[in-house]
Amino acid sequence: MSNFKLKKSEFMELNLNKKVLNEAEENELTSTMPEEIKDDQETEEKETETKTEEPKETENNGGDFKDVIAEILHSRTQSHIFHWQTVGEHSLAMHQALQLYYEGIVPLIDGFVESYQGKYGIMKGYKCPEGFSDFESGEALIKYFQDLETKIESNRDSVKESYLQNQIDTFVELINSTIYKLKFL
Ligand SMILES: [Fe+2]
Repeated sequence: MSNFKLKKSEFMELNLNKKVLNEAEENELTSTMPEEIKDDQETEEKETETKTEEPKETENNGGDFKDVIAEILHSRTQSHIFHWQTVGEHSLAMHQALQLYYEGIVPLIDGFVESYQGKYGIMKGYKCPEGFSDFESGEALIKYFQDLETKIESNRDSVKESYLQNQIDTFVELINSTIYKLKFL
């Protein structure tokens, strides 16, 4: 076997003196191409196919739901801050409801992200939500959790698999059981 190997593009250039090929001409030229160069071409095409199948690990991976994940992580710390600040009527019930939330949400969001990444690859490019608020009243706490539920529901469509949708249901379940405790206990 010769040490001198031409790639398809080099072969075309040498033989046609930089003439622009139309499809018929290229097919004709390929039919006269030595087997060694044809093999080279097939290998290059296979390599291209393999590259497109690699898992995506980009800033856009995770789509709209990545912002919701950041918001849920933020809600863990926000609810802990509220937990330290409850005063007045029903302050103990609110204090306890908030603790159940910030302890409960961590394993739920952890399970979601890890099982999402097992299918789609690593999510990157999280944005930090705005700063924290102080406790004002029970009504303000209820509104905080209702707004969080709205953010989740309005981005739910960006996730299609039922195993992920089921996990989103568990976030919404915990949020609404927290709202129940804040309203009635
Ligand atoms: Fe505490």
